[in-house]
Amino acid sequence: MRNLKGRVAIVTGAASGIGRACAVALAHEGVAVLATDIDDPGAKETVDLIEKRGGKALSAHHDVTDEARWDEIMTLCETELGRPAIMVNNAGVAIGGAILEFSLADWQKQMAINMDSVFLGTRAAMRAMQESGGSIINLSSIAGLRGSAGVSAYCASKGGVRLFSKAAAVECGQLGFPIRVNSIHPGIIDTPIWQKSIARMTDTMSADQLAALSTQNGANALSADAIARGAPMGRAGQPEEIADMVVFLASDSSSYISGQELVVDGAMTA
Ligand SMILES: NC(=O)c1ccc[n+]([C@@H]2O[C@H](COP(=O)([O-])OP(=O)(O)OC[C@H]3O[C@@H](n4cnc5c(N)ncnc54)[C@H](O)[C@@H]3O)[C@@H](O)[C@H]2O)c1
Repeated sequence: MRNLKGRVAIVTGAASGIGRACAVALAHEGVAVLATDIDDPGAKETVDLIEKRGGKALSAHHDVTDEARWDEIMTLCETELGRPAIMVNNAGVAIGGAILEFSLADWQKQMAINMDSVFLGTRAAMRAMQESGGSIINLSSIAGLRGSAGVSAYCASKGGVRLFSKAAAVECGQLGFPIRVNSIHPGIIDTPIWQKSIARMTDTMSADQLAALSTQNGANALSADAIARGAPMGRAGQPEEIADMVVFLASDSSSYISGQELVVDGAMTA
């Protein structure tokens, strides 16, 4: 029903968390997956997981901010697995910290990893898929829909991903490319991403700011767990629950959905 068998996908940031779950879920549907990351052992582990379950995958070292490497990744994919029809721009980091203490270098690093990468990955996919077609899925966040103190650069980067994805969807349509582009907006998902970010927030924000941030998120303490427990569904999401949305958007079941923001957050923003 999903018509994914035999297709080829590139998943960035596939060594951990949501990216790994997406790679595994797509492979389970019969997709050959190029799993890329800067974490080589992690990406290899993802490929091992897929192969153990009878799927097809390959890992590659890939810093998503490196423009020249994107060309090599596209060639590698085409040569080893075939022309990609699914691009999951997932790699990302969350650099937390109060605005008053935030450096321009950290701001630019946040934008490069979360936003420049999505431009480079979307452009590469549009070039590869313009005739054969495909689905481009960009990982934004609920932080791309509303502001939160302590993660302003992250919010800005994810807001950028949201609107860039819509613009790309419109441009693909107008160019007559059979390519859909959508963004996914997870809530709090149980992955390693928040540990470092919250440590930096705790270091650079006042006790009052931290208390206000917890309250804004319905929690009684500043931790990803506490925030997730304070959300309407009372728990963090699992990476597989985001991967399910990725599989849907990759498949023909979503054939008329493009330029949309799909929120998967246990009612956190409801
Ligand atoms: N976990 C959440 O609560 C949550 C919520 C909303 C959005 N997201 C988004 O989902 C995506 C995946 O996050 P996650 O939670 O799985 O985090 P994670 O830390 O588990 O995984 C992120 C992966 O990206 C890789 N990465 C980092 N910098 C890279 C670079 N320059 N080039 C290539 N790979 C790089 C890391 O090595 C890691 O494997 C991110 O874009 C994140 O912002 C996560």
